[in-house]
Amino acid sequence: MGSLRVLGAARSLRQDDSVLKQTVRPGTAKRMLKFSRPYAGLLSIFLLVVIVDAVAGVASPFVYKDIINNGILKQNVPLIIKLAVLAGALGAFDATLGLAQSYLAAKVGSRIVLLLRTKLFDHIQKMPLAFFTRTQTGALVTRLNTDVSGARTAFTDILSNVVGNLISVALVFGAMFLLSWRITLAAMVLIPLFLFPARWWGRKLQKITRESYDLRAAMNSLMVERFNVAGAQLAKLFGRAQDENREFATKAARVSDITVTQAVYGRLFFMALMLMAYFATALVYGWGGALAAMHILDVGTVVALAALLGRVYGPLAGLSNIQVSLMTALVSFDRVFEVLDLAPMIQEKSNAVAIPRGPARIAFDHVSFRYPTAADVSLASLESIAVPDKLPEKTVLRDVSFVAEPGELVALVGPSGAGKTTITQLVPRLYDVQSGSVAIDGIDVRDATLESLHQRIGTVTQEAHLFHDTIRANLLYAKPDATEEELNEALRAAQISTLVESLPKGLDTLVGERGYRFSGGEKQRLAIARLLLKAPEIVILDEATAHLDSESEAAIQKAFQEALRGRTSLVIAHRLSTILEADRILVVQDGTIVDRGTHAELLERGGLYADLYRRQFANAEVKASASPG
Ligand SMILES: Nc1ncnc2c1ncn2[C@@H]1O[C@H](COP(=O)(O)OP(=O)(O)OP(=O)(O)O)[C@@H](O)[C@H]1O
Ligand SMILES: [Mg+2]
Repeated sequence: MGSLRVLGAARSLRQDDSVLKQTVRPGTAKRMLKFSRPYAGLLSIFLLVVIVDAVAGVASPFVYKDIINNGILKQNVPLIIKLAVLAGALGAFDATLGLAQSYLAAKVGSRIVLLLRTKLFDHIQKMPLAFFTRTQTGALVTRLNTDVSGARTAFTDILSNVVGNLISVALVFGAMFLLSWRITLAAMVLIPLFLFPARWWGRKLQKITRESYDLRAAMNSLMVERFNVAGAQLAKLFGRAQDENREFATKAARVSDITVTQAVYGRLFFMALMLMAYFATALVYGWGGALAAMHILDVGTVVALAALLGRVYGPLAGLSNIQVSLMTALVSFDRVFEVLDLAPMIQEKSNAVAIPRGPARIAFDHVSFRYPTAADVSLASLESIAVPDKLPEKTVLRDVSFVAEPGELVALVGPSGAGKTTITQLVPRLYDVQSGSVAIDGIDVRDATLESLHQRIGTVTQEAHLFHDTIRANLLYAKPDATEEELNEALRAAQISTLVESLPKGLDTLVGERGYRFSGGEKQRLAIARLLLKAPEIVILDEATAHLDSESEAAIQKAFQEALRGRTSLVIAHRLSTILEADRILVVQDGTIVDRGTHAELLERGGLYADLYRRQFANAEVKASASPG
């Protein structure tokens, strides 16, 4: 038990003290406590166990004292046996309580992780799209994972080490004082003599360890670089093998040297802790023994003092690094809170109204828009996960006004980067306008409930995304209570049922990232099936420019017609059939609407539309008329 405690202390001393340089926002400690409030019951049980355990630990040396004084010295064998059994039982009790302690600390810790994780997931889901376009997803996920588990480790550490050790140390010293205050004082003076060097060596060890990682990394990257084909070829062509060997040997030698230093410091560190234990014990036996020989102290007390002392270095060493443990916890929690504190830019007003069902009218009124910067999304402080802004802010849309009457098909055409996709993103409120307004049925989208917006508007993007799940699950995402019949009907209308039926597992085929690979056009049709299930009043369609081969063209066109029928629709058009059917075409250039009208009107007027038509659409016309049928 003693050496285990020393080892635990060694781990705590080696904890990275670079956290001490970090600053934590005020109030973090209070919030951290608030997070543990739901577990107040468990925590009190934990504290109780810690106290009882510490008392049990202090009790056994007193049993030894009795064995010696009243048993051995008075030749009372039955008492010796009784007390020895008691000491054994106390040990078993102590071990069991230790287990209970670990269990409780782990339980509270993992409950807190659960709470933090679900809170974070929920919060991040509420973030506007701008948050995700400006976030490095990988970095965000890693950060949330490490911070959340950091928070847990720190919490468990504080609970079991800091609280447990404090109680142990206090009780042990109290008991020692009762036995002999002089020897206890002397031992207490001795302890810092060794604890300070141990701390110093612990820090040094940390630094050396970090350095050894760097040296190893340098050596490894040299190997990786030289052993790949291009590197090997270069070395051979230039005949530099000798120099290469020398360089590698230098790096490898440095690694070898630091390994030795590391071993020595590791041992020194451990040695300081062990020496402290040996010397303090020697002191107790030496001085205490002398006093016992002079009949000032009894023998049992000396042995009890030595045994008590054995229980104090571990907790003491652990406590000597208390600031690092506390700071690690605070920093982890602070970083989690930082993410929780990001206010979602797009929020529902408290008095938001639901957009009534039924035919919808979309109106853009003098809309100006620019994409939010990282600072707008309040991500600027999270450098490690935010994508820094390199480009100057620029206005993407200027003075855009138009109306789509109920059931109308409005087509957006224009050169790449003109702002077509941006216009469509303002309707479901993926972004908010800077000035002007976007309204559905006369209700500004900023005054509408988010739920009603999501229900009324269906979108099929250029790159239709499917979750890594079955086709059925992807479809049910739009309408969780859809019947089998409804699913099949949607697939049929979207012109994709033949394909789905031909798959061995049908609707239960896995799609997405690592599943069945649909082509771009097939994916879009599946997305249309999803949209049909949702049956929104407004449809936003970003026609794909790619996968417009004649094969799926006809199917996609039919699927689109199905999706648009009777609905107010905003379509970014890349195909001739769409612009021919459109009630109105908006020509977008550089973020403004430069012309509007029907195909015939616009063509007659000439200008940008006629140009675009010749380049983009007339081509399709030729292709369409060339293909038989
Ligand atoms: N998330 C974003 N953050 C900042 N700027 C953006 C963002 N998305 C688009 N932009 C910029 O806004 C402008 C309009 O982009 P948009 O995607 O609306 O063009 P588009 O007309 O749909 O083009 P395409 O036909 O190529 O799809 C472009 O200059 C683009 O660089
Ligand atoms: Mg676009």
